[in-house]
Amino acid sequence: MKSSWKVSWLLVCLFLTGCQMSVLNPAGRVAEEQSRLIIFSFAVMMIILLVVFVLFFRFLWRYREDSRIERPPHTQENDNKKLEITWTVLPLLVLLLLAVPMLMQTYSLETKTTQEEMTIEVTGQQYWWRFDYPDENIRTAQELHLPANTNITFELNTEDVIHSFWIPQLGGKKDAIPGRTNELHLETGRPGVYEGKCAELCGAAHTDMRFQVVVHEEEDFTDWVEAAGQDVTPEENETVQEEGARVFQENCLACHAADGAATKNDQGPNLALYGERDKISGSFANDEEQLKAFLRHPNNFKPSTDMPAYNNLSREEMDALVNYLHGLTRENVQGGSD
Ligand code: CUA
Repeated sequence: MKSSWKVSWLLVCLFLTGCQMSVLNPAGRVAEEQSRLIIFSFAVMMIILLVVFVLFFRFLWRYREDSRIERPPHTQENDNKKLEITWTVLPLLVLLLLAVPMLMQTYSLETKTTQEEMTIEVTGQQYWWRFDYPDENIRTAQELHLPANTNITFELNTEDVIHSFWIPQLGGKKDAIPGRTNELHLETGRPGVYEGKCAELCGAAHTDMRFQVVVHEEEDFTDWVEAAGQDVTPEENETVQEEGARVFQENCLACHAADGAATKNDQGPNLALYGERDKISGSFANDEEQLKAFLRHPNNFKPSTDMPAYNNLSREEMDALVNYLHGLTRENVQGGSD
């Protein structure tokens, strides 16, 4: 018996390691409701599992080979109306118990809340996410900034294949489908940094199609919006290092904007306030060494990315570029525009 328990626990642990457990650590109302539903369904299933196991072992013991229990003859005729009704009605009730709260919640989450406070246009593409703030007139990528305790409507689009937008700790997820706009309503709660990801197999670098979600206190969010929209085109900005700005202009500006002014056409992810980001491309630690390695060989990090390798830059140019990118912070950007 002891070893069978050990095996069962091992199996449970093995299954749990594959789970995205952050859904059970919600950081917003929608995610809270969804995690309650997960816990409720899990509890119902565990109770059923327990009953099945108890009955299984009971019968195993009762009808073991050397038991002297009297067994009724097995014939086609010995039907038992009571039992038949029980095993028809009981699963039906269990299904209703699971289906009713689940359907009710699905419909309530699909309905726009009366006080919708913010809209963000999300565009997925192989293999990154662009975030447009139509009311604030700014754009960013790979790092989504949101105010705390706010209802948000995400308008989901895609430039290429089907992606799926998912922030486990805020609730979700929903597909971004070519040719249509899907809406997802979420509500932020406490401030913090959360992981976002693509939840639909979309190509070679699907696993790395991640993003960071930064939920700010209201005042801090306003501050971020203001700084993100500041123009930091190299020739106009003096606080960020000149040499790095030159290297950026010559090598990167064709695809990446260094600020979130929404008019900028960026083929690659927008790099507004890049120096404040924890992650490169939403996935890898944004430190000096890794950023250099990423710029030299982006393909080693994200297979089949469109970004070319910049291993032609001299050591000095690379240092200056990384300094410039890491210098794109609120302090420098706002200081530079004064
Ligand atoms: Cu996009 Cu997976």
